[in-house]
Amino acid sequence: MRPSQRESAPEGAWESASAGVTEGVAGTAPGAGEPVLSVEGLRITVGAGRAEAVRDVSFTVRAGEAVGVVGESGSGKTLTCRSLLGVLPPGCAVSAGSARLAGTELTGLGRREWERLRGVRLAAVFQDPASYLNPALTVGRQLAEPLRVRLGLGRAQARARAVELFGSVGLHRPAEVYHRYPHELSGGMLQRVLIAIAVACDPQLLVADEATTALDTVVQAEVLALLARLRRERALALLLVTHDLAVVAEVTDRVLVFYAGQIVEDGPTAEVVRRPAHPYTAALLRVASAGDWHRRDLSVIPGRPPETGATPPGCRFADRCAFAQDRCRTQEVPLTAVVRAPGDAADDAADGARRVRCLRAAELAPALADVRIDPRGEARADARTPKEVPA
Ligand SMILES: Nc1ncnc2c1ncn2[C@@H]1O[C@H](COP(=O)(O)OP(=O)(O)OP(=O)(O)O)[C@@H](O)[C@H]1O
Ligand code: SF4
Ligand SMILES: [Mg+2]
Repeated sequence: MRPSQRESAPEGAWESASAGVTEGVAGTAPGAGEPVLSVEGLRITVGAGRAEAVRDVSFTVRAGEAVGVVGESGSGKTLTCRSLLGVLPPGCAVSAGSARLAGTELTGLGRREWERLRGVRLAAVFQDPASYLNPALTVGRQLAEPLRVRLGLGRAQARARAVELFGSVGLHRPAEVYHRYPHELSGGMLQRVLIAIAVACDPQLLVADEATTALDTVVQAEVLALLARLRRERALALLLVTHDLAVVAEVTDRVLVFYAGQIVEDGPTAEVVRRPAHPYTAALLRVASAGDWHRRDLSVIPGRPPETGATPPGCRFADRCAFAQDRCRTQEVPLTAVVRAPGDAADDAADGARRVRCLRAAELAPALADVRIDPRGEARADARTPKEVPA
């Protein structure tokens, strides 16, 4: 039985990075800055009624780039990630769109093709590392096995490589750690083990869905620093889902803001944080700027997002938006380019592009730009109330 298939794994658990690959898959290796992942018009349906939980999601992650994914609970972050790993829960399916991993189309792959990719060209780490490790096997064995199977290493070679990998992810006395069982290690150590397993075959893309949420602040910072180092050293593309806006601000190059199954804003993190273009992003940042950056729950704006399958015809944020007008409720709102501020004009490359899903983005820009954000909570006192904007 593979470690990820043990019966105690959470229902619908993603297969671990060590699962089931029987042969390597050669892929084109993008150079630094080149697209590793290109998602276009992704739609995901859930349940027997095939309600759309993710709709028209498009984004790119480049080699060596960290892209943050934020949004309230239920906004479609995990489903999007799981679709990229070929591990959607039962009853959920990609109904449209494309996701290309350095030239390989991921949508429509069969089980065996997924198994050849997962853990080799793309890998993942999760919130609860203990759930993805087999309690009956030493962590060393759980790393050495996939090295043998996927990379064809001999027993001694695999063991040596595993120890080396444990050392490279900052585990002290890696040769001793090799012989430990999961219950003998702390949460932070287990997350390092899972990261070692994830990067063992040098993937092009690492998906981290709330991977540091359960860790205390100090360990979280260490694990994030580790991911940043691995990203630099291996030109690894990182897709980082988190509720923690401080993490987004400090760790990511670009950010995707999800709301009710759609991206409502994306762009370079520094710009989005400095000058949010969507009222939802601005509201999230305003709350954070009041001193609560390390949030576990982003449901801080009055009201609730629409239920999956019961989305309104116009802007999905309209019921909670202080700037909503009648026209916002009648027409589908497209994701459009944000007119860049003069100071941002130097960064006009494709990955520097900004987009927003708001009919009033241009006229609201001055009001929303008044939110001055500092991830350490040192927000300007006058930044919490946006300027008056005509209703
Ligand atoms: N297994 C499932 N079966 C049916 N519907 C699902 C399933 N998983 C998710 N959904 C639906 O898809 C929506 C998006 O779920 P998803 O797990 O992607 O949210 P999320 O943004 O990751 O939230 P969280 O921040 O709580 O992790 C949910 O609101 C729910 O309606
Ligand atoms: S389109 Fe209208 S309701 Fe939606 S975010 Fe913009 S102003 Fe608010
Ligand atoms: Mg999630």
